[in-house]
Amino acid sequence: MSEQHTLLEELLATALVEVQTDDLKSLNDVRVKYLGKKGPIQEAMKAMKGMEPEARKEFGQLVNTVKGQIAAAVENRLLELEQAAIAQRLANETLDITLPAQNLHTGSIHPLQQVVDDITAFFRSMGYEAAEGPEVETDFYNFEMLNLPHDHPARDMQDSFYVDPHRLLRTHTSGVQARTFESRTEAQLPIKVICPGKVYRRDDDDATHSHQFMQIEAFIVDENISMANLKGTLQALARHLFGADREIRLRPSFFPFTEPSVEVDVSCAKCNGAGCNVCKQTGWIEILGAGLIHPNVLTMTGFDPQKVSGFALGMGVERIAMLKYGIEDIRHFYVNDLRFLNQFKR
Ligand code: DAH
Repeated sequence: MSEQHTLLEELLATALVEVQTDDLKSLNDVRVKYLGKKGPIQEAMKAMKGMEPEARKEFGQLVNTVKGQIAAAVENRLLELEQAAIAQRLANETLDITLPAQNLHTGSIHPLQQVVDDITAFFRSMGYEAAEGPEVETDFYNFEMLNLPHDHPARDMQDSFYVDPHRLLRTHTSGVQARTFESRTEAQLPIKVICPGKVYRRDDDDATHSHQFMQIEAFIVDENISMANLKGTLQALARHLFGADREIRLRPSFFPFTEPSVEVDVSCAKCNGAGCNVCKQTGWIEILGAGLIHPNVLTMTGFDPQKVSGFALGMGVERIAMLKYGIEDIRHFYVNDLRFLNQFKR
């Protein structure tokens, strides 16, 4: 009796191993081999007939359990194989109906415009409004109203492209100061304006000079505007442009439309002031001109310099961009070479 038990258990063990076949046909063979009419299970059932009732009951239960386990194993394996077959078919029959996308060539914002946008956003965040002036400007706004009368020697540095005896391509963005002041009254203070734009002047054309370039003018008029306000603004601007560690240095200078006037240097971002090729070993780099607006400019546009004051500053966009991005030749900006421009894609 117990010998038959053992045989059945061995039978179950081998059946469970054989069931792990990899194709449907041999799985069916396994099923027939163990569960078919001539298989060992049927044999065992036949053998039961001659047993004592007690033993028969016990043996019958065992045969049923083994039969059920083999049948379940066959069933499970069948499901697994069917699913594997479906997965295989799906993988084989996959049809990629997508086309490779076309490369879209997006342009990029010109580095000079990026600098303009950046500086404009900086001044806007401090409450300045952006203005524009005409590129063909009158002698009157470009010079006269900025305290540069006809015979003023400082005109020589800028005299350039005249369209007719009274109009020229503007030599700087400062003319927007006079235009703005003229259109406002003291009731509209404070005046806080930034003006980016192209300017033109007789100049060398070399690695750092061009007869056409861009400037950004910024100015403010209100009560009690002093050098301290100018200095704070310049400090913030320098740090915004070149990093939080930058220091500024003011050197006395001359502009007809400001008094006092200063040239503004920023500590060299490359060597941190120690001296290097970028700052020509001085530790400082000149970035712009500025000053307190000359009383004559205020008076000519109808403001009383006893009551109001202001500061103005003007910077060259190319120069800032060259320093910021380490560009060694100003002409790169103007020739539309994609190898250059693509480097400024954001
Ligand atoms: N207009 C000057 C130039 O083109 C730059 C400048 C200097 C602008 C001082 C200003 C200033 O507003 O205050 O060289």
